[in-house]
Amino acid sequence: MSALPTKSPLPDASARRPSDTAVEMNQIVMPQHTNAHGTAFGGTVMGWIDVCAALSAQRHSRRAVVTASMDQLDFLAPIRAGQLVNLRALVNYVGKSSMEIGVRVEAEDMLTGARTHAVSAYLTFVALDEQGRPSAVPRLVAETAEERLRWDEAVVRRDQRLELAARRRELRLRHGAVEPDRK
Ligand SMILES: CC(C)(COP(=O)(O)OP(=O)(O)OC[C@H]1O[C@@H](n2cnc3c(N)ncnc32)[C@H](O)[C@@H]1OP(=O)(O)O)[C@@H](O)C(=O)NCCC(=O)NCCS
Repeated sequence: MSALPTKSPLPDASARRPSDTAVEMNQIVMPQHTNAHGTAFGGTVMGWIDVCAALSAQRHSRRAVVTASMDQLDFLAPIRAGQLVNLRALVNYVGKSSMEIGVRVEAEDMLTGARTHAVSAYLTFVALDEQGRPSAVPRLVAETAEERLRWDEAVVRRDQRLELAARRRELRLRHGAVEPDRK
């Protein structure tokens, strides 16, 4: 007899597991979504990624959210007209009010069923309160080895972003730039 895997109880009522934040979306690449090569426009796919990631961030926070940044976006393979685009988003990491969402995009050839990993993207969203100010989000409980890996990788991306911002600030100071710096 094999026992079903059991999940440990969440530490508090508002905490969530990454699986609670999963969002899946499907789109068909129509002619209006394509460029002169008959493949999907990068900007259109980015828009779909943004929507899918925003829904995942809302599923975690149950708040209004805004896109703060896109840390990484890799177009790995072209997506062709007529293909089904499958987008899957999950929250990887949460700070106080920010959430990093990972989105995996696959393209399915509807005649052969072959699926290709077409895009990977990592976006940060910030939850807002009723006054439009950053608002604390629930904890994320990463339990499985894969969830913990995704958390640790997100921390690396956040640290790289902050380090880059600090170096840019230092350069701007050195060059006497007056414009405020971005994060
Ligand atoms: C994102 C935004 C709300 C942050 O506001 P802010 O006053 O800088 O907020 P704070 O400095 O208090 O930071 C709040 C959180 O946002 C994070 N954050 C701010 N700017 C960020 C950026 N560029 N990338 C990633 N995270 C960012 C901070 O690290 C912090 O995270 P934490 O609470 O988990 O520690 C604000 O810059 C904004 O409204 N930007 C425009 C968003 C927008 O219009 N998006 C497109 C349409 S949805």
